[in-house]
Amino acid sequence: MTTLTPILTRNWDQPDSFTRAAYEREGGYKALRTALGMEPDDIVQAVKDSGLRGRGGAGFPTGMKWGFLPPSSPNPRYLVVNADESEPGTCKDIPLMMANPHVLVEGVIISSFAIRSNHAFIYVRGEVLHVIRRLQQAVAEAYEAGYLGRDILGTGYDLDLVVHAGAGAYICGEETALLDSLEGFRGQPRLKPPFPAVAGLYGGPTVINNVESISSVPSIVANGADWFASMGTEKSQGYGIFSLSGHVTRPGQYEAPLGITLRELLDMAGGIREGHRLKFWTPGGSSTPIFTDEHLDVPLDFESVAGAGSMLGTRALQIFDETTCVVRAVLRWSEFYAHESCGKCTPCREGTYWYKQMLKRLEAGQGEEKDLETLLDLSDNILGRSFCALGDGATSPVVSSIKLFRDEYLKHFELGGCPFDPAKSTLWG
Ligand code: NAI
Ligand code: SF4
Repeated sequence: MTTLTPILTRNWDQPDSFTRAAYEREGGYKALRTALGMEPDDIVQAVKDSGLRGRGGAGFPTGMKWGFLPPSSPNPRYLVVNADESEPGTCKDIPLMMANPHVLVEGVIISSFAIRSNHAFIYVRGEVLHVIRRLQQAVAEAYEAGYLGRDILGTGYDLDLVVHAGAGAYICGEETALLDSLEGFRGQPRLKPPFPAVAGLYGGPTVINNVESISSVPSIVANGADWFASMGTEKSQGYGIFSLSGHVTRPGQYEAPLGITLRELLDMAGGIREGHRLKFWTPGGSSTPIFTDEHLDVPLDFESVAGAGSMLGTRALQIFDETTCVVRAVLRWSEFYAHESCGKCTPCREGTYWYKQMLKRLEAGQGEEKDLETLLDLSDNILGRSFCALGDGATSPVVSSIKLFRDEYLKHFELGGCPFDPAKSTLWG
């Protein structure tokens, strides 16, 4: 039985957990002192050895990404934290930054030192004003303590950290759109390669990492790469925050080693709401193919989830019981993608619009079986043909729901309407 490993979440129940005083009381900023006494390359090596993989969803090895920075460049190097968390169901970075902003600030300083950068940015989703204020307060406290600014702790190392608010576009979580937005342009993805590690912010070598990835760095420096690598599975090492939402008795953030199963997490979360049973769930937010109760024992690590036909993504476990209409859920997600498509490429811009139009009709029972083939054909024309991951992600709920719940789509056509009573589900407003 896997147990929880509260590391980033360990002080969340303290009323003053977000202050520097509380963070230092628990040993915060000790890892920074250790790191500043190390060679930067040794920190990069420790992160490589730890096996830490990007916690923003893609799971790219963090240390390897840092190692891609060219040894020299005429432009300054930058560290950018992607705090634009917006994936439907994904809700780990925002509570982390609210409850424990200093672990992120400490992670930024150590990571910037490791990659030899003197300028760092946290790009935060614009709608979360409370988080922006909290981060600004934490950054101000770190400057006051001499952890940021000139000659940090007398080591001669300088770092400035800027908290930048986005303007509410999901696409700005895509790393190159984020860079355009940070530079003051309309946020739209850039062609890759070059990857940001080579030519990123203002053309300089740039590391972009998710909030949780950077927040994990102090624990690796403090406890060692082996300690981190001893958790999780062979190829998905360490711990991560699993966000349970929807029809679950105790929704929330559960920090555990990668490889834990939904069955184990549900045991800790009090199970599905009383009197109901699991119908379907997302392992990593709405951009990942859905699972059913058959997948309760799939280890939640990158390889096992991929092997079972989905993606670990952001570990956003949205749980739906038998009162939920899967067609309606997929329609909701598709409306989101159609709204958030940036419009740069045709397959996604037109495809997500047609998804929305078709699913609206199907959910209302105005369709026939061949429409499902049209939806799958449309998906083939979006997946792999879109400019960035948003288009690909939009196809996941559509294709997987038709595969797993074709009968439920057909039922809508037979009845000429939705067979579910929205009043019985707590999810539909
Ligand atoms: P990706 O696999 O294209 O890239 C992952 C990271 O590795 C990037 O930072 C990229 O620059 C770097 N990288 C990959 N190959 C490289 C190379 N050869 N050289 C240098 N760097 C390289 O994935 P992407 O598009 O960045 O992210 C997709 C994921 O984002 C999805 O799987 C989804 O789970 C997640 N996502 C998360 C959201 C959130 O709110 N947290 C929102 C939407 C998607
Ligand atoms: Fe924009 Fe969608 Fe194309 Fe991405 S896939 S570039 S979000 S239109």
